[in-house]
Amino acid sequence: MNQLQENVKEAAEFLSSRLSHAPTIGVITGTGLGSAVGTLEGAFTINYGDMPHFPVSTVVGHSGQLMVGTLAGQQVMVMQGRFHLYEGYTPIQVTFPVRVMQALGVRHLILSNAAGGLNLSFSQGDLMIIGDHINLTGENPLVGPNLDDWGPRFPEMTAAWDPLLVALCRQAADGLGIAVQDGVYAGLKGPSLETPAEIRFLKTIGADAVGMSTVMEAIAAVHAGMRVLGISTITNINDPDHPQPATLEEIVEVANQAAPRLRSLIEAVVAGIGRGDQS
Ligand code: HPA
Repeated sequence: MNQLQENVKEAAEFLSSRLSHAPTIGVITGTGLGSAVGTLEGAFTINYGDMPHFPVSTVVGHSGQLMVGTLAGQQVMVMQGRFHLYEGYTPIQVTFPVRVMQALGVRHLILSNAAGGLNLSFSQGDLMIIGDHINLTGENPLVGPNLDDWGPRFPEMTAAWDPLLVALCRQAADGLGIAVQDGVYAGLKGPSLETPAEIRFLKTIGADAVGMSTVMEAIAAVHAGMRVLGISTITNINDPDHPQPATLEEIVEVANQAAPRLRSLIEAVVAGIGRGDQS
């Protein structure tokens, strides 16, 4: 076992010794979306700083705590706040919580984020189900010797974003009367926002939304054999012909406004997973 595996094992054992039930579903929330999962029943809550080997979230709009408890009858582990490449974390650090989830037995991962809309039929505040992604970070969490205990050397990515979870999410949104878009998420390293030429490029290559997170976690989760669902909150629209600066304040505000809708949707998806609707 290498040092990374030892660290993951230690973090997982630290948690499991404090939990009565192991989580089977993971949720990672994005900018301004920390409240996207409300209170969990019987929750065990801990700051990242108090977890062995966890990086600490440094970003405004990210609360930096982990909760494990019951949501819609399922044991769920929620990361309120994530780690980004632009903070200087390595892909291994960014995906560390996913590996801890894997060690605890998490089989489904729900990723949410704030993203800039590239598809001009989208509106500010829309929720977009991620159907696919384009990894433009120049990084990959699987670079280096493959840890065969964790997953295969060359993970299959044709259905990285689980089609059954996408269908379940769409159905849940319909049931709740929540409008959702579908689209392709382009993941960039950041932290600089996109130039109009970059926005044009991203649209041309087929992206509907752009952000600075999510793809590292999705790749690690697919490697781990998890079913992955992603929901982006479109916090601003990037129109290359009418470029408008997006401020962090605006992004956080729009994400905060969308959080209750996202919360209902996540809860309905978790309930659906519990019923076995996606298998
Ligand atoms: N670009 C990149 N990341 C983002 C954006 C954006 O316009 N909005 C929210 N996150």
